[in-house]
Amino acid sequence: MSRFRLQVNGEQHVVDAHPLTRLSEALRQNLEMTGTKVGCDAGDCGACTVLLDGAQVCACLVPIAHADGSQIVTVEGLGGDELSALQAAFAEHGAAQCGICTPGMLIAASTVLKDPPPTEAEVLDALGGVLCRCTGYRKIVQAVMSLGHRKAPGTNPGASSGVGARAIGIDAQAKVTGSACFGADVPPPADALALRVVRSPHASATFELGDCSGLLERHTGLVRVLRAADIPGCNGFGIYPDYKDQPVLADGIARYRGEAVCALVGTPETLDTILDEEVPLRWLPQAEVLGMEDALDAAPINPVFDTNILTEGVVCTGTVPNEDGLAQASGNFTTAFVEHAYIEPEAGLARRIAGTDGIDRIEIAVSTQSPYMDRDEVANVLGIEPTRVRIRPTACGGGFGGKLDQSVQPLVALAAWLVDRPVRCVYKRSESMASSTKRHPANMQGRALADRNGRLLGFEFRGDFNTGAYASWGPTVAGRVPVHCMGPYRVPNVDARARAIFTNGPPSGAFRGFGVPQAAIVHESLVDELASELGIDPLVFRKRNALRAGDTTATGQVIRSSVGLAECLEQ
Ligand code: FES
Repeated sequence: MSRFRLQVNGEQHVVDAHPLTRLSEALRQNLEMTGTKVGCDAGDCGACTVLLDGAQVCACLVPIAHADGSQIVTVEGLGGDELSALQAAFAEHGAAQCGICTPGMLIAASTVLKDPPPTEAEVLDALGGVLCRCTGYRKIVQAVMSLGHRKAPGTNPGASSGVGARAIGIDAQAKVTGSACFGADVPPPADALALRVVRSPHASATFELGDCSGLLERHTGLVRVLRAADIPGCNGFGIYPDYKDQPVLADGIARYRGEAVCALVGTPETLDTILDEEVPLRWLPQAEVLGMEDALDAAPINPVFDTNILTEGVVCTGTVPNEDGLAQASGNFTTAFVEHAYIEPEAGLARRIAGTDGIDRIEIAVSTQSPYMDRDEVANVLGIEPTRVRIRPTACGGGFGGKLDQSVQPLVALAAWLVDRPVRCVYKRSESMASSTKRHPANMQGRALADRNGRLLGFEFRGDFNTGAYASWGPTVAGRVPVHCMGPYRVPNVDARARAIFTNGPPSGAFRGFGVPQAAIVHESLVDELASELGIDPLVFRKRNALRAGDTTATGQVIRSSVGLAECLEQ
């Protein structure tokens, strides 16, 4: 331990810490200034950007010893009683969406404010070190650029009102000031323990977790090692009521690399010193099945299904024509896993709360997209009534579907329930990537037919979607793709089928569109090909075939909106 002096936002602070303590940690934990966010802890995402003696730095990469005696500016130092003009511009332009990147973005943008105003190239250059997964950056750039036309100080969000005024998000102020509380910002009580998950290094393996008494004796701050047998209720969760197929902690069989097999509960300092290799796990790797073609011939992977075909969705209407003379386009298409890469890793804090009626409850503050689903899953895992589970959603630093599934929720709930102390878990970036759900990889075949006038007559689609080892949102993907795979086009004859296939891959889940973006690659490619074959401008071809108000889709739904693709293309 050494003593360091930091001048933060004009105020002098003394911090006692190890010289290698990250500046981000010193700000967030020692000084309780959680406006500075941590996304990757590796200098990649820029969420923790602060000014160090006037220059942008990633606070996660700066050891506190290096910052000793320096002047630091964080998001808390940008405004006063009122928002700064920059903060107000972010709020007004919708530049703070989930808000986890916003403090870093604001700090980065603050370096480019000048008279005369910066060029767009200068703004882009200044913001280049901070990643945003929500906005597409345009609104942020527009917000910064707008300051060239504004001389007045910022107004508090909400000041713009009235018919026709642009609405400002109700949480915009919290996001631009850094006061929005995300999963890792919830302050742990003094007696809180930490939880670390031990994960499978194998995509397919059986394992035994041996006697952990030696581990517990060697590390006095280790309070408990949680295993599947400790779960008082159902060791399974899943999106659908009938498919609670994913174990909270694997019970002797790991089905994907990164699957949780046990959890260490102890003081944060102790957990930092324990190597995974110290945990008495004996692994017996098995042949892994990673490809969907292999999975169709392989033994069942998922514990509750007797086949590796989770489900099939089908849409058939009319008869796809086969006669000569029609224009035809066909092709095979493959897409890969895609990671959500939300800037905020999964984080939560659970507390067991003694009831005055003698019936205890569990309360979990967590970054989530689905608090009611979380409540029901945790209740099922603990074997208690849902009314005894309270989920307190924090601000959610990006989800895009990935935070509809369970991550830390059942784990911290189980630990807090069993050890009767608050328990907190914050995933590392690498752990988030290893364990979170992905976009379904797809193998797709498509065939589209049109007459010589460029009218679509038929569409065939076959798609297999890799849902990984567990069901998650696989049924939604398999069910939704055939409904949408002919795109926004009027097609009278359709034969479309999609299957979700189990493999030893990480679970694929909800991801912006549920498989429909993968299928869009097929229909848009085939439309281009047909237009080319017929010598018709691709835009004209699309207009000619676009669904219009009053049209009936392949699933029998009547288009009611008068603003469909056709109308959009005509504007
Ligand atoms: Fe930038 Fe969400 S608003 S990551």
